Amino acid sequence: SWTTGNVIEEQVAAIREQVGDRRAICGLSGGVDSAVAAALVARAIGDQLTCVYVDHGLMRKGETEQVEKDFVAATGVKLVVVDAEERFLTALKGVSEPEEKRKIIGREFIRVFEQAQAEIIADEGPAVEFLVQGTLYPDVVESGGGTGTANIKSHHNVGGLPEDLEFKLIEPLRKLFKDEVRMVGQELGLPEEIVQRQPFPGPGLGIRIVGEVTKERLDLLRDADAIAREELTAAGLDRDIWQCPVVLLADVRSVGVQGDGRTYGHPIVLRPVSSEDAMTADWSRLPYDVLARISTRITNEVRDVNRVVLDVTSKPPGTIEWE
Ligand code: XMP
Repeated sequence: SWTTGNVIEEQVAAIREQVGDRRAICGLSGGVDSAVAAALVARAIGDQLTCVYVDHGLMRKGETEQVEKDFVAATGVKLVVVDAEERFLTALKGVSEPEEKRKIIGREFIRVFEQAQAEIIADEGPAVEFLVQGTLYPDVVESGGGTGTANIKSHHNVGGLPEDLEFKLIEPLRKLFKDEVRMVGQELGLPEEIVQRQPFPGPGLGIRIVGEVTKERLDLLRDADAIAREELTAAGLDRDIWQCPVVLLADVRSVGVQGDGRTYGHPIVLRPVSSEDAMTADWSRLPYDVLARISTRITNEVRDVNRVVLDVTSKPPGTIEWE
């Protein structure tokens, strides 16, 4: 019968057998799938696995630390963190168009990851022959079936990188659905914040700033996003909503008043949605008092933001992300 214990035991044995005394690498994104896949493989082969985390500087508040500290503490995994913030910001300079941003982030990501990979391969030690990927059962079905919807936005996904055929793939989650992956992750002792994490796009906050991406704008959005997440969690709403993108309209300004002065600041958009699979979605009817608290806190605590607006569009016609 299906138990998380059985799944783990089976996979650990299979991975040990497959890898032998060689080595594997795994890209971590901060998301559930890559984290659970890496934890499983680490359980099987210990420090024959090296994980690579590319910090593109587009993560939300606390997420990189979660991977660097909590994930490593929970798994004992060998982790290489590449600080590539400067590189990504430089590449994104002057770029506002969403698809162009996505392409740049995806391209830089592959380059940085491949460089880190090459360094690991070049060090002394057994051959690095395996690449771990957090492919789930629905991904397997989807890539076989072809839903025809994948091309609306060019997706960036650590699970799909790199397309290097020299590696043999280890895909320990291939038979599992998302909820099962979360259960396995929990059983492996991963932090709750990682196991229960809602979807977050690979290009990160880079596609949640309408306009050019700059360090200053990212910091501002990180603060606003942290407040929204904190209040949604405090209100016990995390399980009710699929995700809640928080978007900075950096190219828009509106007039406001604060204290005894006129302000001319940016709006923050809240985009809470409910969904089954992200293919379609409805806007979440969040309690007014929660919305009020988020709005008050963001406008009080985040510099240069003087307005908070709620996105009440379903998908279709609106996508979940703004870019
Ligand atoms: P849209 O905006 O297309 O988003 O309605 C659907 C779901 O996909 C997430 N998303 C991404 N996930 N890489 C990802 O791994 C990406 O490039 C990407 N873009 C959007 C989005 O957050 C939502 O859950």
